Amino acid sequence: MVGRVALVSLGVLLLEHCSTVTLTRYTQQRADVTRASPTVAVLLTELLKMCFSVGLELTSLFGIGSASSPRKLHAAVCLRQWDTMRLAVPSLLYTLQNNLIFVALAHLEVVTFQVLYQAKLLITAVLSVIFLGHRLTAMQWAALLMLTIGVVAVELSNSEEVPQAKRSRRNVQQDTFTLGVGTVSAFAAALLSSTAGIYFEVIVKAKELDAPSLWTRNVQLGLFSIPLAFGGVLVAGPASWDPNVLLQGFDWVVILLVLLNASGGLVVASVIKYGDNILKNFTTASSVVFGTLLSVVLFGFRPKLQFAWGATLVAVAAFVYATNGRASPADADEAHEEQDTLVAGEHCAHAAETESSMRIADSV
Ligand code: C5P
Repeated sequence: MVGRVALVSLGVLLLEHCSTVTLTRYTQQRADVTRASPTVAVLLTELLKMCFSVGLELTSLFGIGSASSPRKLHAAVCLRQWDTMRLAVPSLLYTLQNNLIFVALAHLEVVTFQVLYQAKLLITAVLSVIFLGHRLTAMQWAALLMLTIGVVAVELSNSEEVPQAKRSRRNVQQDTFTLGVGTVSAFAAALLSSTAGIYFEVIVKAKELDAPSLWTRNVQLGLFSIPLAFGGVLVAGPASWDPNVLLQGFDWVVILLVLLNASGGLVVASVIKYGDNILKNFTTASSVVFGTLLSVVLFGFRPKLQFAWGATLVAVAAFVYATNGRASPADADEAHEEQDTLVAGEHCAHAAETESSMRIADSV
């Protein structure tokens, strides 16, 4: 069963991802604009995420912050080094994933990449079963397969929308080697994304005494991600350290995308903690459908028939997955806790009854 916090997080993720899909579509339609450096964009995203995480840890911000103190944050991050070091793994995996996405996109058409990247839907499910003990029914596996086919259909239905001029400008050489590098990078990015997500889920769901808050976990993650992202800027070789050159191409659309990605990262963290990685994938996949529908309204995009059956398949998959689940280990734990409370309550009631009977007997 999905809790209230998870539902709200999933709703926010849907909105965030839908806006990202729509905005990305808009950037693809723009011709003759200076492209912002992807590595600088990743670094800015990581810096923003760090600011948001610290802000959420130290304030109560609409009830979602931890309202902790700088002293506690310092203790959790700097005095428990081994615990902090655990976050180096997902941080490295996410950084590699982000860079492999750029490699894949440099060698493949956007749509081909999107289609291959959907492999993460099934990889995540397999890893959830292996490392988190999730038990999926046959119908849920069928739903995941339906979801993958549906999203691939929706992504393919968008392929004609990329202007021809844009494609030729990218100068993508579709020879076997290029396709091979792009395909391997896309699959590797999908594998890394799934592994990082599952690793993070294992950490944030571990039942530990004194477990750091979700926002502290993100501060710990950022401690490794920021230097890695900075390394990415260095490796890409900035044309100059002049901020005007470094930030070339960062107009309002790109800045909005950076903001969305940064807040989206934190929403993903919340969805992973209060829901799970499979639910996260269902939500981001559905947002591709909603994002495309929004493009119909905003940019007059005309979807093909393929979009209609792809979107229907995604909706059916979500319904089948939600209505054919077994109780997850977390649900079982909750049920046990509830039962323990009931049993304890019964014991108390029984004890109170016995005590009052004795008192009555005494008084008689
Ligand atoms: O493609 P995928 O859904 O795996 O992307 C998840 C994104 O969420 C990653 O780019 C990662 O940087 C971000 N994330 C985050 N903080 C977390 C977990 C994920 O910023 N705790």
